[in-house]
Amino acid sequence: MEKHKFSKAWLTEREFFDNQSRSNLLIKEIKKDSRSINKIIDLGCGTGSFLRWCIAQKLSFSEAMLIDFDRRLINSIGMLFRRFLKNKNYAIKKVNAREYLVTNLSSLGKSKILFLKKNIINSLDKIDRYDLVSLSALSDLLSKNIIRRLLSKTYRNKYIYFSLCFNGKIRWSPVNEFDKYVINKFNKHQIQDKGFGIALGENSIRYIESIANKNSYVYTKKDSSWKINSFNIQGKSFQEKYLKIILTALKNDDITDKDILKLWFSKRMQSIKHIKSKLIVGHNDILIKT
Ligand SMILES: C[S@@+](CC[C@H](N)C(=O)[O-])C[C@H]1O[C@@H](n2cnc3c(N)ncnc32)[C@H](O)[C@@H]1O
Repeated sequence: MEKHKFSKAWLTEREFFDNQSRSNLLIKEIKKDSRSINKIIDLGCGTGSFLRWCIAQKLSFSEAMLIDFDRRLINSIGMLFRRFLKNKNYAIKKVNAREYLVTNLSSLGKSKILFLKKNIINSLDKIDRYDLVSLSALSDLLSKNIIRRLLSKTYRNKYIYFSLCFNGKIRWSPVNEFDKYVINKFNKHQIQDKGFGIALGENSIRYIESIANKNSYVYTKKDSSWKINSFNIQGKSFQEKYLKIILTALKNDDITDKDILKLWFSKRMQSIKHIKSKLIVGHNDILIKT
């Protein structure tokens, strides 16, 4: 796996937990004024998980543009939507390799889904055509510069929705004496260039808020943390994968004591195996009205 790329398997596995964690911030706002959000653009869309969640919540848009720079992920979206809509009250038709048409069979409302393989940095000129700009599970990768550009004053009367923003809080129970040490190193490790300039990691939420305030935008925030048990296979497997992500991130760096890391990892794995591990990974959803 190339650096800073996300595997389809990981994004598919996390979709279930993301769906359980997403707050009702956007749903409430759309219910207040459904006409204001017609066209959406999802930057760093991965496999299209955010749009599937929207459809499951009965949020409908006339057009959804999904953008990601990873061709493998973009190429998987059509098939995943077909599978997701199967046996639901929708018809899905392929218009061409980059466009699908979804019809709601009750209301007969139609939605265009377009996919584009493109870097977010080169996609900002598209934002103006859309009412809602979504960035899901992405804020910690962003730099100050790209956040300032995303929240630029030239984008008026838009919603910018940063969902599942990692806030740096990782809690395991039962507690292990090295949890704090490892989480601290992991959060430090996240602050490196992830393609946008130096990533803000856990500090992105504070920075987004400060720019929104500076530009006098309406800012709302809600909790959307993962809460994962280990008493079923799905929770167990997800916790193990998350542990491995932390191990992989830290095992070759210059700042983490490798003996502590190994000991911590094996103790945490034992807890998962014995069905008594609970994991909370802190996230927030942020809705900004420009
Ligand atoms: C953690 S995943 C989140 C995926 C999706 N938004 C979700 O909620 O499941 C981050 C996504 O951002 C994409 N990404 C990262 N940097 C990007 C860039 N500069 N341009 C386009 N996509 C990018 C990755 O390919 C990946 O799909």
